[in-house]
Amino acid sequence: MNSTTEKTVTVLRTRVALQQQVRDWTAAGETVGFVPTMGALHEGHISLVEKAKENASRTITSIFVNPTQFAPGEDFETYPRREAHDLALLAEAGCDVVYMPGVAEMYPDGSVTDVRVNGMSDLLDGIYRPHFFYGVATVVARLFLHAQPDVAVFGEKDFQQLQIIRRMVRDLGFPIRIIGGETRRERDGLAQSSRNLYLSPEERRIAGAMYAALHRASVRLAIGSLPGEVRAEAESHILKAGFKSVDYIALVDPDSLMALADDAPLAQGTNARLLGAGWLGRTRLIDNLSVSR
Ligand code: PAF
Repeated sequence: MNSTTEKTVTVLRTRVALQQQVRDWTAAGETVGFVPTMGALHEGHISLVEKAKENASRTITSIFVNPTQFAPGEDFETYPRREAHDLALLAEAGCDVVYMPGVAEMYPDGSVTDVRVNGMSDLLDGIYRPHFFYGVATVVARLFLHAQPDVAVFGEKDFQQLQIIRRMVRDLGFPIRIIGGETRRERDGLAQSSRNLYLSPEERRIAGAMYAALHRASVRLAIGSLPGEVRAEAESHILKAGFKSVDYIALVDPDSLMALADDAPLAQGTNARLLGAGWLGRTRLIDNLSVSR
């Protein structure tokens, strides 16, 4: 007999219900892994859930499109929302609970408390999206207090975000271990992202150029080419491929995110991060790679 079993996942929508669930788990000696997301899930998110499962006995994924990390005129209203699709993927992945709070749950009426990771939030993407990392730190701090996880997993695709969260956790003393999950890529190297859904077929054909340029640049940096020259060449490749503009190609120290010198090769034994951001039509794509010499 043919039969299909539909897996389901528990959805909780309030902080009180989530905290009660976590208290019950903790009392039973369980540990909690947490994956915060804005939904429109893809394989990359599911790999983060898998990582959370490897590091804890219970897993919570949150889905919340956070209004405070979008500026007026950005894509908050049009950000893809695919609840049924996301819940099916999370059930299949064996996630225990999906936390789907409404805006009033995350930002109770009259809420005026923000979290700002100064300095690191004002570099790179922070120059082009000045509101962004303040919104991210604020919502992630609130989500941490709601979910009270032992470990939380964030994608390396958003490398600046990952490092800012590590810093916030260190500065505020959250008892949470932060784990970075490797970027999942399409066959042409394009980093998986919910915003890839915005790309037209023609833009999708071009989109892999960001990864190709960063990869080529990382190889050149590893053999001692000058960062200034390599960054300029990567930018020119991306523009020639059809991107409308490049916000930055940056080579930075992975912890502080401070730019490394343009006019000296990477010192032997150095680890650095190469990051890029650019516009393909109306879609802003970011990506990054680790570089070592
Ligand atoms: O990376 C994301 O999806 C979001 O920035 C996050 C961490 C869920 C905060 O809203």
